[in-house]
Order: sequence, then C-alpha cells, then structure tokens
Amino acid sequence: MRQAGRSLPEYREVRRGVTMLASCLEPELASEITLQPVRRHGVDAAIFFSDIVVPLLLAGVDVDIVPGTGPVFAEPVRTADDVARLAPLDPAALAPVVEAVERTVAALGGTPLIGFAGAPFTLASYLVEGGPSKDQLRARTLMHADPATWGALMDWAADVTGTFLRAQVMAGASAAQLFDSWAGSLSLADYEAHVAPASSRALAHVVDLGVPIVHFGTGTGELLGAMRDVGADVVGVDHRIPLDEANRRLGGTTPLQGNIDPALLGAPWPVLEAHVLDVIGRGATAPGHVLNLGHGVPPQTDPDVLTRIVRLAHGER
Ligand code: CP3
Repeated sequence: MRQAGRSLPEYREVRRGVTMLASCLEPELASEITLQPVRRHGVDAAIFFSDIVVPLLLAGVDVDIVPGTGPVFAEPVRTADDVARLAPLDPAALAPVVEAVERTVAALGGTPLIGFAGAPFTLASYLVEGGPSKDQLRARTLMHADPATWGALMDWAADVTGTFLRAQVMAGASAAQLFDSWAGSLSLADYEAHVAPASSRALAHVVDLGVPIVHFGTGTGELLGAMRDVGADVVGVDHRIPLDEANRRLGGTTPLQGNIDPALLGAPWPVLEAHVLDVIGRGATAPGHVLNLGHGVPPQTDPDVLTRIVRLAHGER
C-alpha cells in the first residue's frame, strides 16, 4: 500500500534530496525502492513504487506531490475549456516507468510485482479540487452541474490511467490494482451513473492481458458490488467493514483483499496479533483472501511490526 516505504530508514536514505515524483521517474531508484519492503519483510508480492499522478505528469499536467499534503495541481480542471486542453498520454513518455518495471521484475525473481493506477474518479477529484480535499465536493458538484464536461474529464482520465496500467503489465507486472481511494464519498447511484463507466473504460486497457485485477477504495462498503462489476477479480476492503460482511455483500463469489486497520500498527503486539488473526479468520470465509492493510502505512510505524505481521501470516511465530 501507499507509503509502505516511508517507515523504512533505507527508504528515507535513498530518497534524501530527491523529490517524490523525480524518484518515480528514475528507473534504478524506483526499482530499488520497490524492492526494499520485499527484502526487509519477506512479503509475497511487491507493489510498484510510483504514484497515481505520475501518468498525469507525463501527459503534461503541472502537478507536484507536496510532503504531508499530497498531489497539488497548478491549474485545477473545472470547465469544458480546461478539459479540452488536456492532452492524451503518449505511451512513449512512459519509458522510465517501463524500464523501472523491467528492472524490478528481473530483480524479484519469483516474487510477483503488482502494477497499479488511480481510478478515474480519484484522479478527477484531485484535478477538479486542485489538490486533496475532505469530501470531493467540487468534483461531486461538477458531475451533476455539467455532466458532459465531467464525462469528458473521466474519459480522458480513464485512458491516461489505463495506458499507465497497461504499460506496467506489458513490462512484466503480474497483477493490476486500480485505486479508487476516494470513491467512498459517492452514493451508489452516483457511482453507477457517473463513475463506473470510466472505471470500466480504464480497466478495458488491460483485460486482454489476462492478469488478475484488484479494485480498492476506502469507505466503499456500500459500493463493493458495483466496484466488482466494473471488471475486477478481487475487491479491496478497508478497515471499516469486516471481511466476512464484505463477502456476504458480494454474494460469496469474489476474492477479497484487506483489511488490517493501520491504526492498530501502533497498538501493543497482543492486540495487533489478535486483530490480524481475526482478519485472517474472516477473510477465510471468502473464496480467496489477499492479506494486507486496509489503507496506507502510517510513516511513524515501527518496521519490525510489519515484519512480525508477515511472519504471523506465514505461520512462523
Ligand atoms: O507504498 C508505496 O510506495 C507503493 C507505491 C504507491 C505510492 N502511491 C507511492 C507514494 C502507491 C500504490 C500510491 C498510490 C496513491 N497515491 C494513492 C492510492 C492509494 C491510497 O493510498 O489511497 C493515492 C490517493 C496517492 C496520492 C498521494 N501520493 C498521496 C495522498 C500522498 C501522501 C502525501 C503525504 O506526504 O502525506 C502521496 C505521496 C506518496 N506516494 C508517498 C509514497 C511513498 C509518500 C511520499 C514521501 O516519501 O514523502
């Protein structure tokens, strides 16, 4: 998950003096950072070090990632003219991403690499808001106030992010994860009418490649079925609903990913251990379960706690 690396001293060491987005476009560095948590924790898969805004940057959007804040855009996209000025992503611009994936896959040996991209709604909400927001209010207003402009923005975002995801899988990633981190601010009706078609369009860029597709959001307990139905094989769940309940809502047919509560990483080990075992037990009710955190790793997390969770999950107490 996002920020797994931030808790590692070796990450902070290699990142010294290099901005977040610059490090994503430096293939050797991006690859090294991807490998660090695998080496340290012995996890079963790596997640590619990049960011959901990297393809926007490569399509010419003026975006920066501000530490402690998140993605910030020089010019928010709010009108039909703003959307008309957005350029498509030239796949050739993805060369540094492709090289980083190729290097990483070679270095990982048998450990699979998960490629990822942001879902159109999460990207569009950053673009419309101009940066992070609590409730994605401007974006949710735009989808109703000017559905045509909203639709054009979502289609653009779907193709940019789908191109980014496809490049990673073509370069050797074994799975594709779509992050709709802020979809939880939507009603099911708005999700289905104004968001789901673009998420399907993004995933259409990779369906022919035959890799498993994971679809994740936070606060999406009401949207799980709709998020599966856009074309996902696995649905990611955050800490807000237990996995057995998520499985029930999905009709017992869909593998799940989740959902250790990041807040408990700072709790005493017996409390965290009981929570992890509870997550594993509930996950076992689903037809498959990928154990991970319900959301990102808090930067102050003790990395040894993460290693201990991996050992517990592997049955090495
Ligand atoms: O953990 C990893 O390194 C995996 C790679 C990864 C990153 N971003 C690197 C990153 C992944 C999968 C992402 C996805 C991402 N980026 C999402 C979707 C997943 C989620 O967590 O909801 C979102 C919403 C973003 C946008 C973003 N990028 C935010 C909100 C932030 C936090 C800004 C801050 O400092 O609080 C980032 C920065 C970011 N992306 C970091 C990393 C390692 C931290 C940068 C740093 O080192 O300071």
